[in-house]
Amino acid sequence: MNSINQVTVQTGTKVSQTAVVVAPLGRDAELICALLQRSSIECVSVPTVSDAMQRLISAGVLVIAEEALTPRLILELAEVLRNQPPWSDIPIVLLTLPGEVTKESQRRRSLREPLGNVLLLERPSRPETLISSVRSALRARARQYQIRDQMEQYQHAEEALRKSEKLAVAGRLAASIAHEINNPLESVTNLLYLMQSCASDPQMIAYGRLAEQELARVTEIAKQTLQFYREPSPHAPTHVADVLESVLQLYGPRLAGRHVTVEKELQRGAPVTASAGELRQLFANLIGNALDAMRNGGRLRIRTRPAREQAHPRRYGVRISVADTGTGIPQHLRKRIFEPFVTTKGDTGTGLGLWVTSEIVEKYSGRIFLRSSAHPQRSGTVFHVFLPYRSAGNGDAVSETMKAAS
Ligand SMILES: Nc1ncnc2c1ncn2[C@@H]1O[C@H](COP(=O)(O)OP(=O)(O)O)[C@@H](O)[C@H]1O
Ligand SMILES: [Mg+2]
Repeated sequence: MNSINQVTVQTGTKVSQTAVVVAPLGRDAELICALLQRSSIECVSVPTVSDAMQRLISAGVLVIAEEALTPRLILELAEVLRNQPPWSDIPIVLLTLPGEVTKESQRRRSLREPLGNVLLLERPSRPETLISSVRSALRARARQYQIRDQMEQYQHAEEALRKSEKLAVAGRLAASIAHEINNPLESVTNLLYLMQSCASDPQMIAYGRLAEQELARVTEIAKQTLQFYREPSPHAPTHVADVLESVLQLYGPRLAGRHVTVEKELQRGAPVTASAGELRQLFANLIGNALDAMRNGGRLRIRTRPAREQAHPRRYGVRISVADTGTGIPQHLRKRIFEPFVTTKGDTGTGLGLWVTSEIVEKYSGRIFLRSSAHPQRSGTVFHVFLPYRSAGNGDAVSETMKAAS
């Protein structure tokens, strides 16, 4: 027998196909349920209409005996029905009292009007009539669940779109700011040079040189920002250790200012085929986050060494670890950390750093994972990155290169 207790709609979501029965007199509820269950229709009986109202959203159909409805309950039920979510219009099968049209029955009919999606079955009704009415109500309800799922899908799609728009806006904004900064930077750099050549006071010359150095850093940052949002630089053999050195240089003053000691263990090894700009972005994000996590000083340890990928021992590449003794990442955050816009830094964070980082790692068929402890006495975080010498598709050539290097 083909059970219709649960209908799987197109989206794969299960929907409720339960008839909720309210029939307070005698054994009515029991008999109705037995009848429906014999026809493979799932059924629960509840004592009052108020109980049925509480199950409204999860019910497939309400089967209500008219005597369970008082005028006050009809008004309450009408109110609950009005407040259903937009997709929901729960079908009600109302088992009316038998008899001729009287003033009383007319009054009851006008009272029921606000109930909407109601099918009247006069008692005594034939079992088949009741079963087929409940079945068609359940079928209509299944369509409503389908609409609910579609509405949810639209909502998700809309959210994703909004996020990607936000990303595009953030990217464009950063690029345009970097671009705007570039021109005055060049002028100030030139002016500083001229001032130094005119100055005779050695102190003035020293200050000028310092200002020039700081400005060079700003120029580098603007250049990197622009580089990232423009087409990345072409793929070329790139030494990860060199990229790390240049990023550390960029962060040097900030690390020193925070009393962070840096321990480097950079084995140069063989180069990876990658865009230097993207690799710089990747490591700048990891080191920048480590710095943010060490407000009161600490230790930053950076290692690179040739390695094989754990899951695919024939894939050779570089393993990089960036470890800090910062605050650590709370357990609940770890799962979501690579999603865009996840940040704990309020207005100063974008939540895009690790997302970009993971995108870059993925682009090069690499792996990234982290270990972290937020324990007060021994807190810290380490990010491990594995970058294959070549991205997927060049496996054999990769192995050969690495074998030669190791
Ligand atoms: N090394 C780290 N130590 C502690 N927390 C970190 C570290 N790296 C990342 N995080 C956490 O992950 C969040 C997301 O990082 P990220 O994607 O770079 O965005 P944001 O720039 O906003 O910090 C951060 O807000 C921070 O809470
Ligand atoms: Mg960050």
